[in-house]
Amino acid sequence: MRTWVAPGRVNIIGEHTDYNDGYVLPIALPLVARCTAAPHTDGLVRVGSRQRPGEPVLVAVSDLEGARARVPGWSRYPLGVVAEFTRRGHRIPGVDLDLDGAVPIGAGLSSSAALSCAVAIALRDLFAPGLTDRTLIDMARAAENDYVGAPTGLLDQSAAMLCTAGHALLLDVRAFAADTAAPRGVEQIPFDLGAFELELLVVDTGQPHELADGRYAERRAECAAAAEALGVETLRDVASATDTTRIADDVLRRRARHVVTENARVVAVAEKLREGLDPRGIGPVLTAGHVSLRDDFEVSTPALDAAVDAALAAGSHGARMVGGGFGGSVIALVDRDRTAAVAESVRQRFADADLPDPRTFVVVPAPGAHRVD
Ligand code: GLA
Repeated sequence: MRTWVAPGRVNIIGEHTDYNDGYVLPIALPLVARCTAAPHTDGLVRVGSRQRPGEPVLVAVSDLEGARARVPGWSRYPLGVVAEFTRRGHRIPGVDLDLDGAVPIGAGLSSSAALSCAVAIALRDLFAPGLTDRTLIDMARAAENDYVGAPTGLLDQSAAMLCTAGHALLLDVRAFAADTAAPRGVEQIPFDLGAFELELLVVDTGQPHELADGRYAERRAECAAAAEALGVETLRDVASATDTTRIADDVLRRRARHVVTENARVVAVAEKLREGLDPRGIGPVLTAGHVSLRDDFEVSTPALDAAVDAALAAGSHGARMVGGGFGGSVIALVDRDRTAAVAESVRQRFADADLPDPRTFVVVPAPGAHRVD
């Protein structure tokens, strides 16, 4: 038995840009999903999860497609990856997968891609060692899109596979997606908050967010409609926010404005970090990203807004919701000596608003997926 891990992520900036061929800037979290795997030859996939004791799932490799509708939701992530391997012609003679996830589920921290990618690198090492990271990213995403039914972009799987310790990953999704043989559009940018006495605080609101519930897909469709209204292939092709004023429909216009301004924010943050300047300078850009997600893209919630407002009121340099939205987590950029006070202020704000006690923790950029033993 050997073990592979893959991390969750927070996106520093660049939300709902990935499926519009835009830019993202995630870091990997020190929280990982763990997959212990052993090959065998009895034609069966057995999946167990430490979070679901007593619920092991047993499926014949030959019946993975047929089993999709009857297996429990959590097991569709690993089984979808196995199915994707077989669909692409990689023979899996049988495998045991024991899973253990430390990325909070539904917190917008990409617990699902962490799981899918941990399974994907395990299966690669065991059965298809020639596969590149680029291909595995596509396979893990296809598993989530097709087997789970969550129409995600490439952000989460790319972060889980490609992030490196101490860096933020700047991904130009258009360049990256265009060439699967020799991927371009990937840049590792040093992200050392500690050197500036700063910390990145995560506030998990405890409000679960769910990508397969239709609202994420609705946003994707609105972006596609906005691009069509402007006569471009994707919103990446829109040069400036002024161009979006040509869209007659108010909702589509605001959706487009978010994507166009968010791409510009990613580029601006990447530039500041690349120059090695004090990262406090990116704070206002992060907060502007939140305002755009709240007002133009309409994926925030009262709890996410409360966390951002309280974090800013307590002296954060910037704060924003992360991930797909409709629940999940917030990040705040804080002076290290203010972290506890900011966390306490958020907690107090939640108590005053009768919201459940949030979970807060500090993160540093951690490594991407790898084998641990
Ligand atoms: C989810 C999806 C990603 C991305 C984000 C929003 O995390 O899985 O592909 O679209 O939402 O930025």
